[in-house]
Amino acid sequence: MATVANPTPRLASRLVNGLLSVKPLASFAKHQARTMMIKRAESIGVYWMQEVQALRSRGGTADFDPAWEQDLALITNHDLAYPAYYVRSFHAYEEGNLGWEPATEVEVAAHAVHARIFPDAGAQGDALLRQSYHAVLQANIPEAPQAVLDIGCSVGMSTTALQQIYPQAQVTGLDLSPYFLTIARYQAQRRSESGETATQSSTLNWMHGAAESTGLPDASFDLVSACLLFHELPQTAAVQILQEAQRLLRPGGHLAIMDMNPQSEIYAKMPPYILTLLKSTEPYLDEYFALDLEAAIVNAGFAQPTLTCNTPRHRAIVAKIQEKS
Ligand SMILES: C[S@@+](CC[C@H](N)C(=O)[O-])C[C@H]1O[C@@H](n2cnc3c(N)ncnc32)[C@H](O)[C@@H]1O
Repeated sequence: MATVANPTPRLASRLVNGLLSVKPLASFAKHQARTMMIKRAESIGVYWMQEVQALRSRGGTADFDPAWEQDLALITNHDLAYPAYYVRSFHAYEEGNLGWEPATEVEVAAHAVHARIFPDAGAQGDALLRQSYHAVLQANIPEAPQAVLDIGCSVGMSTTALQQIYPQAQVTGLDLSPYFLTIARYQAQRRSESGETATQSSTLNWMHGAAESTGLPDASFDLVSACLLFHELPQTAAVQILQEAQRLLRPGGHLAIMDMNPQSEIYAKMPPYILTLLKSTEPYLDEYFALDLEAAIVNAGFAQPTLTCNTPRHRAIVAKIQEKS
């Protein structure tokens, strides 16, 4: 593929891959990664166990509220065929993204993982990360979009954050995990009703689908945003998703991608032990790091993108669609 810059992982990375191909070592690494994350969460005042339990029970007395299963059935697209790369373990969960345990833990995990991006940010790290992305959007997109598609929206943290900066827009969150979408819809409604967020849950739509083949009409969005999605994709899927975004955008529309920055020194200098833990939970990291994403964006029919390092370890890429002939 023309867009692959460096398909051969670095030596340290190859050693890590060798270790992770031994199943008991991979299981140990995943267990360690999870333990480290829970400890980090508790150390910054994110009470993992309590928060997850409150969500599972929806504040009631049952360990797990049966209404979750009813909501899941409503949001699930039963005709959807999952891509093979998606149906596997991710993030230390054997069931990957397709289960209640990962779904109810996404938010606390995001707070733990993003706590260290900015010095002393702690539990505010996640909000600061999103603000840094939004500052790039606002600097690079002159007109506020009216229709926004958030691909790989997970439990809706990126979707509701986008809705807050574009309150006039209709925002659609799309994800392959119906479990995540069920949580997204519930949390958006609960937070809107309780006044925790100023935004209206009625301007949000949730869609169970694949970002590479959404089935949505041509030219129906002004902004397609992918926040922390691309590092979870094999290169073939990444390229297909860029082509689908191009199809979905209206003339003058923008694609925006925020994710890990492979050029960040933080990854180059990461101790092998930490790299092993990271890779044990992110199966497509080597493919993501090797992809020349800017070239792939241009190949998919966009103008030369702008790239901004929005944190010491993330980049935000914004590209305007090329005029269609
Ligand atoms: C790390 S999460 C990103 C979360 C969210 N955007 C945020 O900023 O918090 C990546 C999400 O992408 C979803 N995903 C992965 N591949 C996908 C695909 N091909 N189509 C749609 N969603 C996908 C996963 O289910 C997961 O929810």
